[in-house]
Amino acid sequence: MAVNNIIILGIESSCDDTSAAILMGTKILSNFTATQLIHEKYGGVVPELASRAHQENILPVVERAIEEAGITLKDIEAVAFTEGPGLLGSLVVGVSFAKSFALARNIPLLAVHHMKAHILAHFIDDEEKEKPTFPFLCLTVSGGHTQIVLVESHLKMKVLGKTIDDAAGEAFDKAAKMLGFAYPGGPLIDKFAENGNPDKFSFSKPRIQGLDFSFSGLKTSILYSILNAKKENPNFIEENRNDLCASIQKSIVTILIQKIEMAVQQTGIYQVALAGGVSANSELRKVLNAKKMNNWKVFIPKIEYCADNAAMIAITGKYLYDAGNFSNQEVCAKARMPW
Ligand code: KG4
Ligand code: ZN
Repeated sequence: MAVNNIIILGIESSCDDTSAAILMGTKILSNFTATQLIHEKYGGVVPELASRAHQENILPVVERAIEEAGITLKDIEAVAFTEGPGLLGSLVVGVSFAKSFALARNIPLLAVHHMKAHILAHFIDDEEKEKPTFPFLCLTVSGGHTQIVLVESHLKMKVLGKTIDDAAGEAFDKAAKMLGFAYPGGPLIDKFAENGNPDKFSFSKPRIQGLDFSFSGLKTSILYSILNAKKENPNFIEENRNDLCASIQKSIVTILIQKIEMAVQQTGIYQVALAGGVSANSELRKVLNAKKMNNWKVFIPKIEYCADNAAMIAITGKYLYDAGNFSNQEVCAKARMPW
């Protein structure tokens, strides 16, 4: 049963962002995120530190979201939260908060799959943006996942292909680490690539069948190219930073685009959406947008809905609510979660 203007509190804490959002109907009233900068110096997310930071952040973040939405605690009619997949110690904080909140307020609980939520962010109301219609394909690219998903309805999705090793975001971050950048290095590669030559360096390409992805060969190829070049010139990275970034970025984007092209050919579905943190990448957005020339209908998320955010959790909660798909106090955080 669809309740048009229902007010839902969304909570996201699967990795290193603590986020809360207020949704009314399909409209976002607020979406506030505290990003944990503590991981920068460790070269990756430290699970124990992430969990502790979520505990410190969760209350102020929720209070801020409620305040920015201009509502009161009593207006909230349901709470949606990330059940998984993600880091267990991080998820537990959001799950426990949501369960306590729902119990105290006697309102329904909605357990959300993080990766599905990245996709459903496309259904948040936005006057400037058209929404995809079903069925469509979604290239879901984040720090932990790389998938091609067939989206048949808001709640019916099927993974057609996925990475067999590293995720695209991981490939960006690991390459960035080799260049000496702080974590997460993906956005820095994007930034320096702007002034670089994408054809200056070439790296090995994966030879993987079907719609699955692989990035580990590329990672090794980048590492050895850098190590060998540094033997000749110790300043190789500094002197070639922009060209290295542009070439690495081109390699990753090419791998992603080749597979989504194959998925379009195989399914005959020409509506393609992008989702997940890596969808913020400017080259990926540009190359996918150019596919409109080939009769593709392309859906690129707004930058604020690319990285982890609670707005996507709240909108997914709305569709679960409409379908009567409620959770209960027995629900637990899940590091791995089937589709
Ligand atoms: O979806 P997300 O925020 O968190 C996960 O669920 O993993 O994705 C984070 C990933 C990181 O690997 C980060 O480096 C990457 O997204 N990322 C980017 C860019 N912005 C974020 N990668 C390349 N270019 C960007 N502009
Ligand atoms: Zn994510």
